[in-house]
Parts: sequence; C-alpha cells; structure tokens
Amino acid sequence: MARILTGTQSSGRQHLGNILGAIQPAIELSKDPKNESFLFIADLHSLTSIKDGKVINENTHATASAWLAMGLDTEKTVFYRQSDVPEVCELAWILNCFTPFPMLENAHSFKDKVSNLAEVSAGLFTYPVLMAADILLYDANLVPVGKDQKQHLEMTRDIAGAFNHRYPGTFILPESKISEETMTIPGIDGRKMSKSYNNYIDIFLPEKELRKKVMSIVTDAKTVEEPKNADSCIVYQIYSLVAGQDEDLEMRRNLEAGNYGYGTAKQVLFEKLMSAFAYEREKFNHFYIDRSKVENELKKGAEKARDVSGPVLARVRKNLGFNLK
Ligand code: ADP
Ligand code: TRP
Repeated sequence: MARILTGTQSSGRQHLGNILGAIQPAIELSKDPKNESFLFIADLHSLTSIKDGKVINENTHATASAWLAMGLDTEKTVFYRQSDVPEVCELAWILNCFTPFPMLENAHSFKDKVSNLAEVSAGLFTYPVLMAADILLYDANLVPVGKDQKQHLEMTRDIAGAFNHRYPGTFILPESKISEETMTIPGIDGRKMSKSYNNYIDIFLPEKELRKKVMSIVTDAKTVEEPKNADSCIVYQIYSLVAGQDEDLEMRRNLEAGNYGYGTAKQVLFEKLMSAFAYEREKFNHFYIDRSKVENELKKGAEKARDVSGPVLARVRKNLGFNLK
C-alpha cells in the first residue's frame, strides 16, 4: 500500500490543461485499490502570490468544485484544504529551524524573483519548507508532481534526511513521481495553456462564453479553400486531445483537403467540448452554486487528514523532545 499525496494551488480556475494534465491522471491514480490517496488545495501557498483572502477562497471553491465535478471520490481520497489542518504550520516552523539558508537561496521559486528582492516575502522564500511540511506531515510515500516541482521534492527529502540524521526514524522519505511524459496542452495562442498567460479554455464557462473563447483560438490566414496543415493547427491539436480516433482523423482529413475553414473547425471543437464534458459541466454548476456542499466535503476531508497529521506531529515533538503534551 502506497500513500500518494499531492497538492494544487488555488491560484485561479482550473482549465483544460489542468484537467487533462493533472486532475484526470490524479483521479485515475486514486482509483487503484493498492493506493491510499491524499489531495489538498494549497491555499496557504497561494497567499505568497495573492494577498486577498476572499480571492483565494473563491479560487479554492472553484478548484474544489472542478475536482469534484471531474469525479474525485471523497470516499477513496482524503480531499482537504491545507489551511484546515493547522498542524502543517507548526511542522513548517520546526522544519524551518532545520533548513539551511543556502538551500532556500537555491530554490528556483526564489531565484526567479531575486532581481527584485523588495517583492520577495519571507513566505515566498520559505515556500519549499511549507511544501515539505505538507508532505512529511502525512507520511506520504509518493508525490506526483510536474517537472517544475522536482526541486521542491528534492529539498523535502534533504530536509527530512537531515532531521532523521539527528532524530532517527522521524520522517518517511517520499519519492517523487515526475510526469515527464505528460503532454503539454496548448492554449488559444499556441503557448502552453496557463493561467499566467491568460490563454486558457475554462470548460466550465457558460455556453456562450465558452464558444467565444474557442472562436478566439489563433490560426494562420489561410482562406477556406486552401488546404491546411493539421499538425500546426491549434484548433486541431486541442480537438485531438478530446475527440475519439475517428473524429480526430476526420478533422485532419478535412483540414488537409481544403474547403474547410478554421471557423468550421472551431465550431466542431466547441460542440465536442460541450458534449464531452456535458456531465462534468452540470456537476460543476451543481457544486459551484452549493457552497455548503463543497465546504462539507472539505471539512470531512480535513477531519480525516487530522487523524493522520496529529499523531505525526506528536511523533516529531516526541523525537525532538520538545514541549511534550
Ligand atoms: P497554471 O500554469 O495554469 O498556473 P499550474 O502551474 O497551477 O497551472 O498547474 C497545475 C497542474 O496542472 C500541474 O500539475 C501542471 O503540470 C498541470 N498543467 C498546467 N498547465 C498544463 C498544460 N498546459 N498542459 C498539461 N498540464 C498542465
Ligand atoms: N507547489 C505546488 C505547485 O505549485 C503545490 C503544492 C504545495 C504541492 N504543497 C504540495 C504539491 C505538496 C505536491 C505536494 O504546483
């Protein structure tokens, strides 16, 4: 039995890239009865970039609604909000006191901002330590993350290793599961789909807005009549991720044959998104308008999470010999 744990920041709404690249694979992993899975929304981490708690709460609600709409089973997965488990802050502090300054100075998340130190908060600087606490607090064995988080996982292992060296047997050293091969879903401008580029497709948008978004996908200036290159066509690239094999081939043939305009291709993609995610769109709205239902799920998840975090923190205090209760 492996305990799998991962977190996602509540930095905005979840888009098609997040859904295909992170949410669906994590839900698949959680279905394996050999695994025990923990999934949380890292709202405390979001505070390093968003300074308005109300905005974070809104994002957390939309993020939780998206996970639940995509089929996360809260009976099988411990699904919670990071800030509902206060033990994580105490553990982060303890780990802070065991983390060498130069290690944090080396973190990409900090180095990216080093040219403007006035903008760097202590929270951003110690971001990797809170992440280590997120993981170590639950004795996680496996942490699936994107490539960009690899260094944070190495730091988690280093911090845990250093602590264990002094106080043996305190932490379980987690392995990372880096999804190198996960495809990068393109956004409407052809760059990686990302909240930070504002080029994303939010499949939970109302119909009219979703259509408008799809219609704004960038294409070249070829006329309706001209044959087109499917592989360099962003509309086709996105379509092929959600369409079946036959539909995929059909659009490719149509584009390559000519007399098939980008407007038509976009309409086909829009209709595909509407039909492929019809059930999930309905579920999203169901959760999104029912805040108390989502809150309830998160609270239940936090109780289960605290059943684990309490004893682990007690073990840390005991091994450290610190203020034993
Ligand atoms: P964003 O770039 O929108 O801020 P995040 O960095 O919060 O997204 O990523 C959350 C998760 O979604 C990560 O696991 C990441 O690998 C995945 N993800 C984000 N964008 C894409 C994309 N365009 N294609 C595939 N996976 C993605
Ligand atoms: N830093 C991660 C990200 O931005 C989110 C995160 C926070 C996380 N704590 C974690 C991921 C613990 C895995 C495990 O994507």
